[in-house]
Amino acid sequence: MSQPRRAVCPGSFDPVTHGHLDVVRRAAALVDEVVVAILHNPAKQGTFAVQERIALVEAALAEGGDPPSNVRVEAFADRLLVDVCRDVGAQAVVKGLRGGTDFAYELPMALMNRHLTGVETLFLPGDPRWEHVSSSLVKEVLRLGGDVAGLVPDVVLRALRRELAP
Ligand code: PNS
Repeated sequence: MSQPRRAVCPGSFDPVTHGHLDVVRRAAALVDEVVVAILHNPAKQGTFAVQERIALVEAALAEGGDPPSNVRVEAFADRLLVDVCRDVGAQAVVKGLRGGTDFAYELPMALMNRHLTGVETLFLPGDPRWEHVSSSLVKEVLRLGGDVAGLVPDVVLRALRRELAP
C-alpha cells in the first residue's frame, strides 16, 4: 500500500483567521491528511494559550457544519517544524501567500527547512478576500475599538472580544 500523502500547515494561529482556514481547507483537498501544527514563533508574544488556539481552530473548522474529516490540529512546543514534519510523516509544508511581503518572509524559512531535511514547502495563493487579514492586525484593530466582524470566524470573534476588546 502506498504511503498517505500528508502535509503540515504550520503557524502561530494566535488566533486562526479566515485566511488560515481557507489555506487549510484547500490543502485538505489536495492531500490525504493535513496536520495543522501550532508552533512557537520567537518573534511573537502570544495572546491565546496554546490549548485555546487548538480549540479555536477546531471550532472554526466545524463552524458552518462541514468540517474536513482529514484535518487534525496539534501543538508542538519548542520543536523545529522539520522535526514535526518527520514525526507526523509529512512530505510537505503548505503555506498561504497574501503577497510579496509574505513571500519575502516565507522564502528563507522554506529554503532553511529544505536545507535541514529536504522537506518541501508548497505555497498557495491567498484568497484576495483575506489579503488584508492577519492575526496581528485583527488584534490591533480590535484592541483599539475597531470592528473586525467577518474577518475571523464567529467563535474567534467572541474569544477576541472576551480577551481584548476595550
Ligand atoms: O504564523 P507564523 O507566526 O508566521 O508562523 C511561523 C512559524 C511558527 C511557522 C515558524 O516560526 C516556525 O516554523 N517555528 C517553529 C521553529 C522552527 O522550525 N524555526 C525555524 C524556521 S526555518
